[in-house]
Amino acid sequence: MAVKLLALDIDDTLITRGGSVSKNNLRAIELARKAGVYVMLATGRGYLGASRIVKELGVDTLIVNYGGAVINDTRTHKSVMATELDSGAIIEILDYADELGLHAHIYQGDGIVSERPHPYAEKYTRALDLPYTVDPEIRKKTWRNVPKALIITEPERVSELLPVFKKRFEGRVCVSASSPGFIEFNKLGANKGTAIEWVADHLGIKKEETAAIGDNTLDSEMIKYAGIGAVVENGNEELKRIADAIVPSSENDGVAYFIENYVLTRGKLKLGFDIGGTNIVCGLVKDNRIIKKSSQPFEKVSDESIAQRLYDQALSLMCECGEDKEKVASVGVCIPGSVDTSRGVVVDAHNLGLHDSPFRSLVQKRFNKPVALVNDADAAALAEMKLGALAGTDTSMLITVGTGIGVGLIINGRVFLGGRGKGVEAGHIQTDRRGPACTCGRTGCIETFCSASYLDARARAVLGADADAKTLISAVKRGEKAAVDVWEEYTDNLAGALASYINIIDPERIAIGGGLSGAGEFLIESIRRKVDVGSFFREPTPIVIAVLGNDAGLLGACIYADEV
Ligand code: BGC
Repeated sequence: MAVKLLALDIDDTLITRGGSVSKNNLRAIELARKAGVYVMLATGRGYLGASRIVKELGVDTLIVNYGGAVINDTRTHKSVMATELDSGAIIEILDYADELGLHAHIYQGDGIVSERPHPYAEKYTRALDLPYTVDPEIRKKTWRNVPKALIITEPERVSELLPVFKKRFEGRVCVSASSPGFIEFNKLGANKGTAIEWVADHLGIKKEETAAIGDNTLDSEMIKYAGIGAVVENGNEELKRIADAIVPSSENDGVAYFIENYVLTRGKLKLGFDIGGTNIVCGLVKDNRIIKKSSQPFEKVSDESIAQRLYDQALSLMCECGEDKEKVASVGVCIPGSVDTSRGVVVDAHNLGLHDSPFRSLVQKRFNKPVALVNDADAAALAEMKLGALAGTDTSMLITVGTGIGVGLIINGRVFLGGRGKGVEAGHIQTDRRGPACTCGRTGCIETFCSASYLDARARAVLGADADAKTLISAVKRGEKAAVDVWEEYTDNLAGALASYINIIDPERIAIGGGLSGAGEFLIESIRRKVDVGSFFREPTPIVIAVLGNDAGLLGACIYADEV
């Protein structure tokens, strides 16, 4: 089900301490709004305390304040729902805090009140620009309209104090942790979860259509309630156990990541195509999973005829799945070759015979949906970064070893699409001018002696016409001399290429995909030492097998399609 309401915690989720909303987060929030998502804030702060962020975002929705105790309307500046702490409970919290030597304050209107001046309270009120009153009589009064009480202490004391307060007020007051060093007290049952439920009901939005993101236990009820709940990497461990997704930290724009990868894509059907020199694979995809896929031989009469084949293949797949073409939100196409993704043009795909082809528009006019056109290795790298073997890396690479050699580079958390938008063609680095002819028209490219096709050819040469890379590897494992010699030579080649790639970007990790990755650990074991010896750097580079197998390109193309 598509997301219709998104609730964002502010501190250490949407912003880092004292900071502003980043450009990336702002851009993603704007995209979500354009897609019709009701984007709202759900914070432990009061209305005034949240006003700077409300302004930065240009929010014109309801806002959950005081950890769910109050819901305000940013258009009228009035509350639409408010709960209060019982006066007896307030006095007990203040007494107990006093007994433990802790600073506690309560909220009255948008300001705070404490018994004695305290540096924590002064710092807090200055940071949020809140009115601050010191009232020595605070424990003698009967209080009304107090949405929450707050203890501020040293961050490292919270884990020891939280259970103490929880036990003491069990069944009477809701106690949770929010920002580092903060212990919050609300009326029992008043939490961000019940508040988001209130807003969803008010707007006629179903629970399954809601999404929420936060970082601390003050967010746990809303994360449990939401159809999809996420926690930022810097968040609390308890929350990570209950969240549906763990996304990058607040410092690394986790909110934007959540919006782009979960909120905007949830429940949407997409079509992905992986066009290869022999086959075209089409997949119907939902929530980054392939529902069903089909394969047909690649055939080219004209550029138009390939686009038409994609369309026909998709229609029969949709029909088999009982789905209507109109329900498809976007289409992603990946191809082996140099692609100008922003212009939607295949520059040179030698194996497909496509050159300077405005292929994206040929596909688009048939489907009448947004289409992304991308290089197959770039698409696979994106998918492995978002869902697979390269997750959590900022600078890494995916090498596909198949008919050709494809290289997808991840630099600073993004797939690098080439300085002039034509991609990365590292399989066509020429290392031997007098070497064998390459499909690209040159000679001695890395691809000519590192691809799986090269290994197939070498296998046939030593083991006979029926042999291929797979049978060669079996023979190597049995210790057959001729096969072992070929394997040594081949792994020298591949390891040499990888070591050279490492020297260019010093990646945190390399993942190997494509047909030959089926050889798994045996392949990695055979090249690891050779790569380490060959690379400039003394520290070994982790090399792993890609996990999405042959689906990586298709899934990555679908992820790209979200961005067009
Ligand atoms: C192409 C690349 C492609 C790779 C893997 C190479 O021959 O030039 O663009 O990524 O094969 O398919």
